[in-house]
Amino acid sequence: MRAAAWQAMARGVADRRSPARHPTLATIGPDGPQARTVVLRGWAGDVAEVHTDAASAKLAELRADPRAALHVWLPKQDMQIRLSATVGIVLNDADRWTRIPEGARIVYGGDPTPGVPLHAAEDFRPGRDFGRFAVLRLSITRADLVHLGADMHRRAILGRGADGWTGGWVAP
Ligand SMILES: Cc1cc2nc3c(=O)[nH]c(=O)nc-3n(C[C@H](O)[C@H](O)[C@H](O)COP(=O)(O)O)c2cc1C
Repeated sequence: MRAAAWQAMARGVADRRSPARHPTLATIGPDGPQARTVVLRGWAGDVAEVHTDAASAKLAELRADPRAALHVWLPKQDMQIRLSATVGIVLNDADRWTRIPEGARIVYGGDPTPGVPLHAAEDFRPGRDFGRFAVLRLSITRADLVHLGADMHRRAILGRGADGWTGGWVAP
């Protein structure tokens, strides 16, 4: 089941229409859990990559506690993917910045910074600021996979240790 889940995550990076393109990223905020939609930018070697504004609340949350979760529901495969991760924050990644199309850079560097109250929604000015570009590298440590089969429901919980991935079926 992990192979199918990993394949779906890889597809999320390559295929804009794949459900894994837009996982939900959950972090631990000062007032409790926080979940939001993100774009899956990379998936390789048990590491997922997400880009964000360095001034966003999620970055402060991850600096305080690097634990996070990614959630994807694949309706065609009837599969839920729940991933636990430890997140590394990479700033000043000029190589990745140059690979982002000019028009797409506009979400990194708006004024005022995310979450600041505005008098009117139009008072916000988007901006392109390399200094505000953050790459989140989510090192996957655990996977909880559920398949809603026509015959039965199957669930597997897997953990990544020094010897690779171990674990197996659990009651759904
Ligand atoms: C379809 C969609 C894709 C999004 N992709 C991203 C993304 O890749 N990175 C990001 O930081 N925010 C993304 N957002 C915005 C977040 O959901 C969220 O509103 C924003 O990052 C602020 O979250 P925070 O205050 O918890 O940091 C996306 C929103 C939508 C609806």
